Amino acid sequence: MIQNKLKKYAALAALEYVNFDSVIGIGSGSTMLYFIQELYHFRTKIIGTVSSSYYTTLLLQNHGIKVLDVNTVSDPIIYIDSADEVNFDMYMIKGGGGALTKEKIISSLSNQFICIIDESKLVHTLGQFPLPIEIIPESYSYIYQEVLKLGGIPKYRNGIVTDHGNIIIDIYNLNLQNPQLIENYLNSLAGIVTVGLFRMRKNDLILISTQYGIKSF
Ligand code: A5P
Repeated sequence: MIQNKLKKYAALAALEYVNFDSVIGIGSGSTMLYFIQELYHFRTKIIGTVSSSYYTTLLLQNHGIKVLDVNTVSDPIIYIDSADEVNFDMYMIKGGGGALTKEKIISSLSNQFICIIDESKLVHTLGQFPLPIEIIPESYSYIYQEVLKLGGIPKYRNGIVTDHGNIIIDIYNLNLQNPQLIENYLNSLAGIVTVGLFRMRKNDLILISTQYGIKSF
């Protein structure tokens, strides 16, 4: 499938930006699987990685790549991850895979965030992809009602328990013309652990894999 090829090319392109004096923060998802497969060839040259999810940790360990405890890292971190949608301000929707909380923690801690996507994910306005939020299970009714008041349509993500024991709601139909307002407002609601809108910690560099090659901005 062409999209998978593009994801793989984006992952390959990201390797050129990896500084081996940095710890590498590793995101989650299928694009990052390609990145891990490439990073494998350099596993003895890197200081180590910090991982954004249990699943990513398993993948890294299965590839013989060292995973460090993020709380013990003092070296600079370069964070590589994909996204579900990215706009031209470099704001992102993430969390399609449910790993948004640690993705937000590690990207916030990082000195540089490189986002790697295939061209289908670049959009003018965020919001075609439903906005994931990780919430504490007991807050479900409250958050559900608050999302409705915002004009969004909340949908419980079936069968998902996050690495932190929480649940995910995907918000459809939310007006994201003002991402700052929405991110701040949702962050203020009791029970919301993480909002999958990455505006405060947007990416620093984006590598977009297109049918005509890699574009960056
Ligand atoms: C994981 O929780 C997400 O934030 C991913 O970064 C996003 O869903 C992209 O995933 P793919 O690389 O599988 O498209």
